[in-house]
Amino acid sequence: MVDLTTEFAGIILKNPVITASGTFGYGEEFGQLIDLNLLGGIVVKGLSIEPMLGTQVPRLHETSSGMLNAIGLQNIGVRNFISHKLPYLRGYQTKIFANIFGYTSEDYLQVVNILNEEEGIAGYEVNISCPNVKKNGQLYGEDPSATYDLIKVIKQKSKCPVIVKLSPNVTDITVLAKAAQDGGADALSLINTVVGLSVDVETFKPRLGNITGGLSGPAIKPIALRMTHQVVQTVDLPVIAIGGIQTANDAIEFLLLGAKAVQIGTANFLDPRTSLKIIQGIKNYCNKKGFSKISSLIGNFKTD
Ligand SMILES: Cc1cc2nc3c(=O)[nH]c(=O)nc-3n(C[C@H](O)[C@H](O)[C@H](O)COP(=O)(O)O)c2cc1C
Repeated sequence: MVDLTTEFAGIILKNPVITASGTFGYGEEFGQLIDLNLLGGIVVKGLSIEPMLGTQVPRLHETSSGMLNAIGLQNIGVRNFISHKLPYLRGYQTKIFANIFGYTSEDYLQVVNILNEEEGIAGYEVNISCPNVKKNGQLYGEDPSATYDLIKVIKQKSKCPVIVKLSPNVTDITVLAKAAQDGGADALSLINTVVGLSVDVETFKPRLGNITGGLSGPAIKPIALRMTHQVVQTVDLPVIAIGGIQTANDAIEFLLLGAKAVQIGTANFLDPRTSLKIIQGIKNYCNKKGFSKISSLIGNFKTD
């Protein structure tokens, strides 16, 4: 028996595999396909104060090495989530994380205040990094002082641990990681998608209605690994790693670097059972390598 339990920010997960925001709906969509009780956790689609329709179509394009999307954070809004989705999720023995976003700190705070009244949410994942919702020129996730200010006010109001989701679309991710830590973040998750573009050579037009989109999937895994390594070495906060994870070995790479948990994104679209296969694969790997608990494996990366 391998003990797969992992802990970050005072939250105990039965295993380190969480499904990533925007790739697993509100959980319910996958509940008919897999047993959600087996997952370490579920991060729901990003929630805004009001429902959002998202960007113009087309919104998805499959590239040779990953997926380009510009969904534009389409979602049902936090109140509909609470009335229609959360009661279903509460029926499961897995940790539920609410991914939240807004255009202003007031937007974020309103979502936090509404969620604070609810039972059954383990933590808030604060998305400061979606590449498809740029307004007024700058994103929180690209500006360390805006990140610091936002996280500070959210932390003052939040009744749940605050996980800050970082953008890879910056020169030095450690600067943003430190800003989030200084603002009071309880944990960090990284990475969100990498901004990309695809051109249709027949029409001469972009393949996405939004022109650019976020690249996810296997293409971004080495970038996510490099950034995870940089961040775990720079800050004291627990890190949840995301980016191109498709197999147990992919997940183990991040765990060896020191990530306390991983999130599975685009791979859910290829096979809804991916996360369950990864959990089983991590267990097999621990057995083979003689680790009786996952915590002994985490952080074993060696550079010499
Ligand atoms: C279709 C799609 C929608 C997404 N929506 C969100 C979202 O609402 N909030 C968020 O923080 N990240 C969102 N993401 C980013 C993922 O959670 C994840 O960070 C990213 O896809 C990288 O992981 P992957 O390579 O395993 O997919 C979305 C990604 C995709 C592909």
